[in-house]
Amino acid sequence: MSDKPRVLVARKTFPDIVERLRAHFEVETNEGEESWPQEELIRRLQGKQGVYVAGTEKIDAPLLKACPELKAVCTMAVGYNNIDVPACTLRGVLVSNAPDVLTETTADFGFALMMAAARRLAESEHCLRSGEWKQWSVTMFAGSDIHGATLGILGMGRIGQAIARRGRLGFGMNVLYHNRSRLAPEQEAPLAARWVEKDELLRQADHLVIVVPYSPSSHHMVGARELSLMKPSATLTNIARGGVVDDAALAEALAANRIAAAGLDVFEGEPAVHPGLLAVRNVVLTPHIASASIPTRRAMSNLAVDNLIAALTGGTPPTALNPEVLSARRH
Ligand code: DGY
Repeated sequence: MSDKPRVLVARKTFPDIVERLRAHFEVETNEGEESWPQEELIRRLQGKQGVYVAGTEKIDAPLLKACPELKAVCTMAVGYNNIDVPACTLRGVLVSNAPDVLTETTADFGFALMMAAARRLAESEHCLRSGEWKQWSVTMFAGSDIHGATLGILGMGRIGQAIARRGRLGFGMNVLYHNRSRLAPEQEAPLAARWVEKDELLRQADHLVIVVPYSPSSHHMVGARELSLMKPSATLTNIARGGVVDDAALAEALAANRIAAAGLDVFEGEPAVHPGLLAVRNVVLTPHIASASIPTRRAMSNLAVDNLIAALTGGTPPTALNPEVLSARRH
């Protein structure tokens, strides 16, 4: 056996990107399309110093305890709610994520979902495909406008701002946002974006787009109470994480037409989807694909690999979440 460090690629990715790892490490890969069960992940991590994961692998304290040789956990996702970063830091395990490279692609998709919900794309297509379309009518699948409407963004990080740019500069939307911290005036000005309290955002938005990271404090940030504040003509789009929206409450609100429509790319407990959401027509459902363009998925994977190589060869990982681990290692 060679004395190269050993790494595990826990989710299938592009072969040429795995080859980059082989230049430095002994590499074991997951060639299947599915993630491994937790026990299998732990078993395969034995003797490995690094792991490449996606948003689907749970890296928690029991796993870290069971894999004492692990030194680096690099995810190709920007979201890292599947990784217990403080537990990794305690054990001296470097963690990185993949920000920036997916911002524009994800914003494109969020905008597309919002438009699809507002203009009733999915339900009208289902009607046509199922042979239900018998004749044209004036009000058939009449939805709401995007241009000139009020865009409400919950979570004004990089992706939120990229959606705001599309809304303001491309569609003349009035941009409101709610975020823990306000943008600097020079960031707000080109978007004519205005910070408002969360309830105000819910009351005023014609189209609400949710882009906050998942954490215990954002769990069910939009539930029955929040939905009851929204306009009956409003749409809700969630490209953040399942769990930020209470899916059961949303399904009820959609069924009762308390809001007009929703566009959802993420779900509580995905890949399972709340049966109430599958039962209503006024929702567009996609399987967590907001960042899924080939160039962007390649860029995300390459960034995870850049981080893994740097973390295990004495370099500086470009997007480390706990870089203090490396300084501690060097002293
Ligand atoms: C991300 O990068 O966080 C996307 O949601 C894919 O997991």
